[in-house]
Amino acid sequence: MSQTDTPVTPQDAPLPRRPLDGPAYRDFIADVVRKKFARNYLEVGVRDGKTLAGIDCPTIGVDPNFTLSVDPIRKKRVLHLYQMTSDEFFRDHDPRAVLGSPVDVAFLDGLHVFEYLLRDFINTERVCDRNSLILLDDCMPVNIEMTERVHRPELRKDKAIAGWWTGDVWKVVSILRELRPELRITPVSVRPTGSIMVSNLDPTSTVLDDRYFEIIERYRPMVFTEALYADYWTTNAPVPASAITEDFNLSLFARV
Ligand SMILES: C[S@@+](CC[C@H](N)C(=O)[O-])C[C@H]1O[C@@H](n2cnc3c(N)ncnc32)[C@H](O)[C@@H]1O
Repeated sequence: MSQTDTPVTPQDAPLPRRPLDGPAYRDFIADVVRKKFARNYLEVGVRDGKTLAGIDCPTIGVDPNFTLSVDPIRKKRVLHLYQMTSDEFFRDHDPRAVLGSPVDVAFLDGLHVFEYLLRDFINTERVCDRNSLILLDDCMPVNIEMTERVHRPELRKDKAIAGWWTGDVWKVVSILRELRPELRITPVSVRPTGSIMVSNLDPTSTVLDDRYFEIIERYRPMVFTEALYADYWTTNAPVPASAITEDFNLSLFARV
């Protein structure tokens, strides 16, 4: 029997995907920063710098292992890079002191494990103001298997996108919806795995910090069943990027 004759069993069948359309996430982020006339920008998880390079305003980038492949400065007047984990950064530095004002737009794209993103959110909101925006990457996994907590591409069924790893950061969206109902949470259709725009921030809120260990214990064992995954996509049905970046729509989410 040749390989092409091998019968496809249900276990081998490629998993259904929920592909997202719209602009690439980094174009969306650059557009938001521009249209908001952002005073400054913070990126957690920078890697090669391709997203950070598209930003013009004063910027802080944090990554324990930079692998810059582009000029990260370009038109920026100010750029601060911190080669350390985000936990170390927030422990030892205050971005408000570095930038001279609260963080205006933050893009959180560090380690794709929900405890890390939750801490990044808590630490970032604290140094924002009410009209700042926090963008969470990779919270719209386009199949279930990419939500594994450890990226094991060799075990994945959908080989074509086995390199995509969102981890379980989606849980942070559910946590925010459960415990911070006053936040405005807007899932946005951008390629490849969505962007969650969080606005109406409250830098004085301590709910997530106060309940951190309870939250971690409750959410850590959670995994997507097909029903839970479908439910997540219904609750978090993404809007097109143009709903935010065209026609001054950004003012629906934050005051400039
Ligand atoms: C998906 S990449 C970031 C891509 C980048 N934001 C972009 O759009 O091009 C994730 C990055 O998070 C970094 N990272 C891993 N652990 C981290 C941590 N604890 N704190 C901050 N960054 C972390 C990794 O080194 C990696 O470069």
